[in-house]
Amino acid sequence: MSQKVRTAVIPAAGLGTRFLPASKAVPKEMLPIVDVPTIQLVVEEAAAAGIEQVVVVNGRNKSAIEDHFDHAYELENILESRGKSEMVAELRKIANIAQIVSVRQKQALGLGHAIACAHPAVGDEPVAILLADDLFDGGENPGIGQLIKAYGECGGAGVVAVMEVPEGQEHKYGIVDGELDERGFWKVTGLVEKPAPGTAPSRLAIIGRYVLPPEIWPALETTKTGHGGGIQLTDAMVSLIDGPGLYAIPIEGNRYDAGDKIGFLHANLAFALKRDDLREPLLALMKKMLDEA
Ligand code: G1P
Repeated sequence: MSQKVRTAVIPAAGLGTRFLPASKAVPKEMLPIVDVPTIQLVVEEAAAAGIEQVVVVNGRNKSAIEDHFDHAYELENILESRGKSEMVAELRKIANIAQIVSVRQKQALGLGHAIACAHPAVGDEPVAILLADDLFDGGENPGIGQLIKAYGECGGAGVVAVMEVPEGQEHKYGIVDGELDERGFWKVTGLVEKPAPGTAPSRLAIIGRYVLPPEIWPALETTKTGHGGGIQLTDAMVSLIDGPGLYAIPIEGNRYDAGDKIGFLHANLAFALKRDDLREPLLALMKKMLDEA
């Protein structure tokens, strides 16, 4: 029987080097998709899936993220005095999406280490993990909601979201090997973080959403340095295979890699095209640009 998943962890301590200079003084998780910071989209996804508490693992420049999920009384008062009460209501909602707790990763020792920093805040419970570079849309229950549902059906085993990536792209991801069951879940038999080109066991790539049982906590403590000199979450998950088990779940909906420049632009266009106020003028602009290109 699997325990209820109450807490999510969002690692946000990376240096964001791919988005310099924008990420020099602002965490890359605050860069907007149209006018909403990527981390807000991810916190909303977690809250929509029933998560009550979100632990954000911060590095430097953490105050922008904390401030974003807090009340901004001065700004709210100024907007109120200008009659912009709709905007004020929207800002107030952000502070109430979920209970946000911040912890600090004092050294950049890898994704697995970042998650381990959240252990005291989460406790010995199962945990949902959402990487803010991966954005999802589409469907009633996007991203982590599908995994939380699958976790409830897997008897205490961990679950991780996967997608088939084109051949030649495997080295950018954690790759799973497994056997497909009658539910359409892959029972994981092996995992490798960013395999060298030509060595991947499959094209099933981990795409930034996980629900892991409490057994992940001691596993993270003993995981040795792996790919790129960091402590890798993928390596810690290997020990779940012979313990409570691990399933890879193909996720429905669209996924955007907002950690990559083209993926970030794609997410901006896709999210803007879903908005009634932007769709028509943006399509007209895109047509004009294509004609001129
Ligand atoms: C991380 C994980 C990797 C996963 C990827 C998904 O890598 O370590 O296993 O496939 O996220 O986005 P990163 O992209 O942070 O280097």
